[in-house]
Amino acid sequence: MSDFAGKLKEFSVDFNKKLPDLFVFAKGRERQVAEAMFYSLSNGGKRLRPFLVMKSAALFGVSAEKSFVVAAALECLHTYSLIHDDLPAMDNDDLRRGMPTCHKKFDEATAILAGDGLLTMAFELLCGDKNTFEANKKCLLAEKLAKGAGAFSGMVAGQMLDLDTEKSANADNPEELIKHIEEMKTGCLLKFACEAGAIMGDAGIDEYNALLSYARKIGIAFQITDDILDVEGDEMQMGKTLGKDVLQDKLTFVSLYGLDKAKQIAAQLIDDAKKSLNVFGDKAKDLQDLADFILNRRN
Ligand code: IPE
Ligand code: IPE
Ligand code: MG
Ligand code: MG
Ligand code: MG
Repeated sequence: MSDFAGKLKEFSVDFNKKLPDLFVFAKGRERQVAEAMFYSLSNGGKRLRPFLVMKSAALFGVSAEKSFVVAAALECLHTYSLIHDDLPAMDNDDLRRGMPTCHKKFDEATAILAGDGLLTMAFELLCGDKNTFEANKKCLLAEKLAKGAGAFSGMVAGQMLDLDTEKSANADNPEELIKHIEEMKTGCLLKFACEAGAIMGDAGIDEYNALLSYARKIGIAFQITDDILDVEGDEMQMGKTLGKDVLQDKLTFVSLYGLDKAKQIAAQLIDDAKKSLNVFGDKAKDLQDLADFILNRRN
């Protein structure tokens, strides 16, 4: 395991320990939905988004204690997107984070509700008392997350386009379209992670823009590597079913350019992303290393 992989693992162990405190398990029949939420949230996951939130905030001296709730909110929202992405009506997957998907472990209706529950929980965390930032920051964080996750130019919009494979195949400019899809379905939540750090830390304009530029580049690169790993990854390591993009006729950087060119594009994006961080000097080592991890990851 590389030094950085070890660091991320340590981070995720710490992060996971704090998750049970965020839950309320009722005694009645409704308990099942909280159990399904907790099942999907707490089982595995690299925790890249919370790491990004907390390390971006740390650039400005924000403590892990303060940024944790924002990081947890984003992980809840991301996990909801995975539960719904796996549903039979969407990618129809049986395996996620090395475990049966939520609808396989429970049932489809419970999985839909577990997604709904995690989505709303994200905003409860951002706006409630557990988030100790001042009200205007909480409000701004909630608005940014809603936009990034949303249906107009966020994750939900990207997921809509991703499902629309027939139109994609006939697109006038498939290169622009695929960039647009990957930026929305995956990039927007990674962008929120970095932007949240900048908001919590009262970043100046140059620092804010530097983080946004980094986030945009790693966002697309992250989805390109996901698409590459869908073709040549190891199912055990990835903890999810692979080879699905071809089967489901998805438009991806790999389907458009082939593996070699997709890898070159990802490498260039990661190189550019790291350059975006120059303004922070050595302070941004964790974010630099995370960019390299995204390019070389096997899970
Ligand atoms: C998977 O994200 C979904 C994509 C956006 C490609 P991750 O690869 O970060 O999944 P976890 O959180 O580690 O399970
Ligand atoms: C999903 O993209 C992005 C989300 C918003 C969840 P994929 O469908 O490629 O993600 P995996 O491969 O199932 O994790
Ligand atoms: Mg999908
Ligand atoms: Mg999927
Ligand atoms: Mg994928």
